[in-house]
Amino acid sequence: MTPLRFGLVGTGYWARVTHAPALASTDGIELTAVWGRDREATTDLAAAYRATPHHDEAAFLADVDAVAFSVPPGVQAPFAARAARAGKHLLLEKPVALTEADADDLVDAVEQAGVASVVFFTQRFHPDVRAWLADVAARGGWAGGVAVWLGTATTSASPFNTPWRREKGGLWDVGPHLVSLLWASLGPVTSVTADAGRADVTHLILHHQGGASSAVTVTLSAAPGAESLEAYLWGDSGRSAAPLGRVEPVAQLRTALAELAAHARSGQTSHPCDVRFGRDVGRVLAEAQRLLDDPRRVASPVLPWHDE
Ligand SMILES: NC(=O)c1ccc[n+]([C@@H]2O[C@H](COP(=O)([O-])OP(=O)(O)OC[C@H]3O[C@@H](n4cnc5c(N)ncnc54)[C@H](OP(=O)(O)O)[C@@H]3O)[C@@H](O)[C@H]2O)c1
Repeated sequence: MTPLRFGLVGTGYWARVTHAPALASTDGIELTAVWGRDREATTDLAAAYRATPHHDEAAFLADVDAVAFSVPPGVQAPFAARAARAGKHLLLEKPVALTEADADDLVDAVEQAGVASVVFFTQRFHPDVRAWLADVAARGGWAGGVAVWLGTATTSASPFNTPWRREKGGLWDVGPHLVSLLWASLGPVTSVTADAGRADVTHLILHHQGGASSAVTVTLSAAPGAESLEAYLWGDSGRSAAPLGRVEPVAQLRTALAELAAHARSGQTSHPCDVRFGRDVGRVLAEAQRLLDDPRRVASPVLPWHDE
């Protein structure tokens, strides 16, 4: 079997610690090219994996069969659409885009080209989480869910303290993971309402097809001692917590890459976490953002407050 030639876009923290090692250690694929805007970082990362460094997008795309993205979503979406139009299969990061127009264009490019796509919603590629999803689907009877991700990316020591995260906050960075998980466990999201707390603290109420509802809280600005991630469902079947504690990103990305490569070889273009699902998750985030940005969103006092 000829290995599928992958190019990596991005040379930042996540590209170095997760994408490059996973691309280099997945059966049936090889990391042959790296594209980055920083020449030195691109040369160094490519050299570490005996890949070819690229700064020219056309030359990079000509060198590969598939592309893995590890750049901000606003950079990923248009680059990925061009890659799809050049016939390349796509391993995308979440969120797939920052605007619905970019996401729609990306889906259009993927569908027109007939290429395979997988979005790396990390937890969805963990065997324990997959077993949990199968178990809760078999049990049924869920009335609701709760998912909370209190992250610390805005601390100065965090490798995830990057410009787009500071601008977009937890809704767009960790929100996609929780919406993806609740969507997969409680059913497609049919509506969302959103409200905000301090800094980037965001609360969502999701309604799911079939009648269940769920509550999400996300932030990247929690104090380190408060850092946590949990999700659970509740209902007639009792309470069931998702096993989110044992995620190993390189191993989960290997699974995502292997599934993408298998789809690329077989011609199958639909996957539970394909670009269409990535766009649908993004629509939930975009609607939540619209509500958060609406100047009419005013907290109405429910208790009388008297100054003594
Ligand atoms: N699935 C997960 O669990 C998970 C976890 C972490 C991250 N991610 C995703 O992985 C991606 C990368 O994350 P990250 O933490 O490495 O930080 P990031 O800030 O999203 O990306 C850093 C990389 O993007 C490059 N970059 C930034 N702006 C660019 C631009 N305008 N044009 C070209 N390249 C640009 C940087 O180049 P310079 O070095 O030149 O600045 C660097 O190579 C994001 O999409 C993120 O959501 C996913």
